[in-house]
Amino acid sequence: MHLLNFKGLSGQQIMEIVDKGIEIKHCSEKYRDSLSGKTLAMIFQKTSTRTRVSFEVAMTQMGGHAIYMDWRATNFTIADIYDETQYLSRNVDCILARMLRHADLQVMAGASRVPVINGCDEKYHPTQIIADLITMKEKRGDLKGAKVVYVGVHNNVCNSLIEACTKVGIEITTVTPIFNEPSRDEDLLEEARKSGLWNRTLDFREAIKDADFIYTDTWIDMEFFSDPKYADEKDKRIKMMIPYQINKENVAGSSAWIMHDMPIHRGYEISPDMIEDPRSIIYEQSENRLYSAKAVLLKVLRLY
Ligand code: CP
Repeated sequence: MHLLNFKGLSGQQIMEIVDKGIEIKHCSEKYRDSLSGKTLAMIFQKTSTRTRVSFEVAMTQMGGHAIYMDWRATNFTIADIYDETQYLSRNVDCILARMLRHADLQVMAGASRVPVINGCDEKYHPTQIIADLITMKEKRGDLKGAKVVYVGVHNNVCNSLIEACTKVGIEITTVTPIFNEPSRDEDLLEEARKSGLWNRTLDFREAIKDADFIYTDTWIDMEFFSDPKYADEKDKRIKMMIPYQINKENVAGSSAWIMHDMPIHRGYEISPDMIEDPRSIIYEQSENRLYSAKAVLLKVLRLY
């Protein structure tokens, strides 16, 4: 099976991956040979810290091997994605790809004989959200009836968070004054609307009143953050978004746990003091990328 987003999965199937991640976290020795002899190709069109490291370490700790491939150093740059993937999937057991465009990831999945995992594209970031649900379950226990508020730009992470939360029974409110158009997936949003578990508002203070978790993400996609051509749009976004920053004043009176998928842009979507606030579970959340990666690999390789 591929994991491009959560569309083919039920809430129960998503929770099985989450629960496997938690089990692996506590019984890592049991899984030390689970991927013996298996190779993961990890191909990146964009930068990464967590996705690359967590999947590479996951392969190592479960007895397998990972090959990191910077897109620019491969012949994917001069050939058809379909043909190159046909080859790649005949030499490896699984492919993790971080692509700029979901459409290209779909071509890759269509050509591949082995499972393809979405390592984040402009529309979805499913492996991040498995780590997030692991973290929420560790903190709260039962996730049914939990309340999550996402504040920031409506982007790929926001899509996958909405998709997963509404499937597993979590109420999610999004406070997103800006919609990142390349991320738009009306079908996903329509499914979320039908669940009755997704709300939208611009009233941040009202939204967080009884929230269990407050989640934020970058206001600017990673490939544009330092791009001079994007400077005007960056300034515009900062002016619009700064009232929605996670800071002491904006979350005063709330005991909700604070989450961020990282990388963090200190002083933009979150103030530096909130990163170290007792309510912050950001670093634990990032650590859980490893257990998410392990559970996802075992799932797509049909090893449980
Ligand atoms: N959250 C996340 O995907 O981190 P990286 O971009 O560093 O992989």
